[in-house]
Amino acid sequence: MRYYVTSPIYYVNDKPHIGHAYTSVACDIIARFQRLSGKEVMFMTGTDEHGQKIQKSAANAGIDPQEFVDKVSRNFSELADKADISYDIFLRTTSEGHKKCVKYVWSELVKGGYIYLGKYAGWYSFRDEAFYQESELDGDRLAPSGSTVEWLEEPCYFFALSKWQKPLLDFYAKNPDFVKPISRYNEVISFVKSGLQDLAVSRKSITWGIAVPGDDSQVIYVWLDALMSYISSLRMFDEGKNAKAFWPADVHVVGKDILRFHAVYWPIFLMALGLKPPKQIMAHGWWTNEGVKMSKSLNNTIDPMDLIQDYGTDYLRYFLFREISFGEDGNFSKESFISRINNELNNKVGNLCQRVLSFIFNKCDGRLQVDHDSNELLQSANNLLENMQKHMRNFALHLMLDSIINLADQANKYMEENAPWILIKTDKKSAERVLFTLVEVIRYIAISLQPFLPKSASEILGQLGLSKEQTSFSCLNEKFALRSFKINALPTPVFTKIC
Ligand code: MSP
Repeated sequence: MRYYVTSPIYYVNDKPHIGHAYTSVACDIIARFQRLSGKEVMFMTGTDEHGQKIQKSAANAGIDPQEFVDKVSRNFSELADKADISYDIFLRTTSEGHKKCVKYVWSELVKGGYIYLGKYAGWYSFRDEAFYQESELDGDRLAPSGSTVEWLEEPCYFFALSKWQKPLLDFYAKNPDFVKPISRYNEVISFVKSGLQDLAVSRKSITWGIAVPGDDSQVIYVWLDALMSYISSLRMFDEGKNAKAFWPADVHVVGKDILRFHAVYWPIFLMALGLKPPKQIMAHGWWTNEGVKMSKSLNNTIDPMDLIQDYGTDYLRYFLFREISFGEDGNFSKESFISRINNELNNKVGNLCQRVLSFIFNKCDGRLQVDHDSNELLQSANNLLENMQKHMRNFALHLMLDSIINLADQANKYMEENAPWILIKTDKKSAERVLFTLVEVIRYIAISLQPFLPKSASEILGQLGLSKEQTSFSCLNEKFALRSFKINALPTPVFTKIC
């Protein structure tokens, strides 16, 4: 079974911030989860390097746009590497393969009769690289995203979007799970029901973009260019490539601000090209910083590289998917970050592993030999995979993590109630049974934590002495229960407290 997941491709007008890391980590959790479930996964991320915004940033920096995007794009690939993003493809829209694909697509859309020359007269948001209708602007003439708009009047090519209203609504009706969460889907549906206007798909007044085939005076609209990255990355139209094997994408993960491009324009472009729309789009919420919207002008964006440097990748990943429900907005605060790491990750998971494993090393000569057991705690561990799968179907990544932490909670309680440190004095066999149950639960926890905390999970799995084949999700059941256990050295704590 194949699985294709994509992150948005990031604008390279500035260095990455925590919102970018959030989207990428979400995709990474999904990709790792599917790989551990035995699927052949393709995970694409990359950078969006054309358009007016980038052209201006390069001009402000006083350097050639290509040199500028080369430099900033590197910041994003470095972040992906530092944040343990296990991407298969890092696509740049300035790459030759991508440009070729976009030009081909343009010609196909022209051939299909979907593109015509006209004149745009309306509002344009430079920050969103988006066209807005008068009715969408508020009293202060701001776009729904809060960005300012400018009046734009220029000849350009249009895509006949309006013709697609009915086919798109029919598609929505047949695919009730197309957009998650459902509340956002409803907003999209009502937007489409209110009527679609033809979309300007080229710009005359800018130069930094892919030239319209046959008309060098225009460049292709940056969103048409960017969306095609999801198929150019697969080399969809290259001869001899089996790119279609991964299409349609299983999920595009996007922030709520760019849902319209993905849930309205993108399926229409694909249908016009004779391709299937993606199976699902997951739109997540936005982070604020200590309660305030993050923005360059307020100079309050959070640099994920700083957090990784100070606390390590796994702590950042844990916080991002523990603090807020995936899909909702949320707030970043240092206090909450520290509390989540110290009071949960350390006190719950860290303590459990450290107490159990060091006790076995110190008091049981580092070895346990017990027959298969069954009890309520092991039963909960056995249900973990099913719970996680259920939550994954809704992209409730926070609930998946929640079920792992709950299991650690239960295991700590079980340890307190059964007090192996007392039991061992009178009934060694029973103490060993208790410890064995706990080792088993740690095994479940470590395997399940892999998509979220790849480094820490792998350390715990190493302490348990498990080989690579013993760490896939197919081992999350009693058939793969350990038959004996041996630990050769006093374990060093995988988690440490922060301040
Ligand atoms: N280049 C377009 C995407 C093209 S995809 C074909 C773009 N780039 S972006 O760099 O501005 O944003 C990329 C992602 O970061 C979006 O999903 C956006 O929602 C996310 N975030 C940007 N700021 C954010 C927060 N403050 N919080 C959470 N995510 C945010 O849009």
